[in-house]
Amino acid sequence: MNFLVKTGSATAIATPVLVLGVFDDGTLPATTADIDQATGRAISRVMKAGDIKGKLGDGLLLQKTKGCRAERLLLIGLGKPKELDAKKYATALRATCKLLQQYQLGSAVVTLAAAEIKDCDAQRKAALLARLFEHGQYRYYTTKPKASKLFQLEQVTLLLDAAGDRAGARRGVATGAATGRAMNVARELGNLPANICTPTYLGKQALQLAKRNKQLTTQVLSEAQMKRLGMHSLLSVGNGSAQSSALIIMHYKGAAASERPHIVVGKGITFDTGGISLKAGLGLDEMKFDMCGAASVLGVMNALCELKPAMNVIGVIASAENMPSGTATKPGDVVTTMSGQTVEILNTDAEGRLVLCDALTYIERFKPASVIDIATLTGACITALGSVCSGLMSPDDKLAETLYQCGLASLDPAWRLPLWDEYQEQLKSNFADIANIGGPKAGTVTAGCFLARFTKKYRWAHLDIAGTAWLQGGDKGATGRPVPLLLEYLLNAAK
Ligand code: BES
Ligand code: MN
Ligand code: ZN
Repeated sequence: MNFLVKTGSATAIATPVLVLGVFDDGTLPATTADIDQATGRAISRVMKAGDIKGKLGDGLLLQKTKGCRAERLLLIGLGKPKELDAKKYATALRATCKLLQQYQLGSAVVTLAAAEIKDCDAQRKAALLARLFEHGQYRYYTTKPKASKLFQLEQVTLLLDAAGDRAGARRGVATGAATGRAMNVARELGNLPANICTPTYLGKQALQLAKRNKQLTTQVLSEAQMKRLGMHSLLSVGNGSAQSSALIIMHYKGAAASERPHIVVGKGITFDTGGISLKAGLGLDEMKFDMCGAASVLGVMNALCELKPAMNVIGVIASAENMPSGTATKPGDVVTTMSGQTVEILNTDAEGRLVLCDALTYIERFKPASVIDIATLTGACITALGSVCSGLMSPDDKLAETLYQCGLASLDPAWRLPLWDEYQEQLKSNFADIANIGGPKAGTVTAGCFLARFTKKYRWAHLDIAGTAWLQGGDKGATGRPVPLLLEYLLNAAK
């Protein structure tokens, strides 16, 4: 999709469709009021008639009227003027995108950003518009090639008032569009079935991305290489699988080699049966989404290649398939991690932390400026927070606060849970340095506490995306979260 930014009068613009906001108290944003005036009150009339009430997300398409050069007007409800904030603006944008697709209008001029929106400058308004439109263009086809194709918008022009910050809006469009596309990369990988999307497949995607982009180099460590490094915890997870495990390392180089990198580490369990601690059958297909942390890392690396920020970022994916078999790891088995700490695997279904801990030790060599791991780690996180926000844990108050703010700013929120020492007690083992489960209480926190034992050498935060990475039910599919949060954080760090 092509995004343009323009300033000026809406009445003078020729377009197949002009998108105008309307409020639910009968008042109109300035741009809409201008068109209303110019068209002899065409908009006031339909509002008075009750054809559109201005409720948030409402839509009404009007045919050409005298007084403006647009062939159609698409009215979009913005709700109450005083309550219009980024979240509501996003709802209005989603509705706009859907209606343009439904009416097959491939080129539009959108004026919604001309309204006053709480805590939103031109850059943020433009970023949200580009992101949500890109996001709205995605549909899954790969293993459903005959499905009807979603209508694709070709050109969207963002119209600001004469005093609008065009340069800011252009910056916003670039980051927003890249964010939306990165989410779609993550969604596609998440949605692919586990018989296609294996650890080897993820490695290939990472290698291909590096081939297309000079600033990226990818390395995929084989099982033999990981064995030599002492990654027996990561390797133990794939013991029961016919698929090889992989550690994927992607270096994005946008700054001098002396500049310390930020690192994102994704859990890439391409299918989680639970292993010998086998899961129940209901909804088990959804465990193909257990690589959504890894998918978000690949999405982020895609966006960095596109935006080329002046910084160094390393994306790491710890990937394996968790299967039961005669060669699978058994409850009670003890493995030695790369860090030298031994782990008693009391439950083979707590496998995410087992692959992550070795990846988190491996990256010490890069002397990171910060490390964020992203994982569909615990069902308990869904119980605690539902699907509204991701779980956020960090021993570093400043990093936790920064990520919390990035979540709010990007409409991809995360909420902090504690990693206090008291919880570490639950991970005691009689047979190893640490157990891989902490009992029924505070499951999300004890998973975080497990990882904390491997991250003492750098600034680190953990995101549990078990509730946010995919939707269930009729809309079943990967969401692309927390790509927006991660990009907000990384691109701010580059400034
Ligand atoms: N991938 C799951 C967590 C999960 C479950 C995410 C359901 C989303 C939906 C993870 O590997 C897992 O199985 N965790 C266990 C941990 C337990 C054994 C301590 C869980 O949450 O039950
Ligand atoms: Mn599991
Ligand atoms: Zn898992």
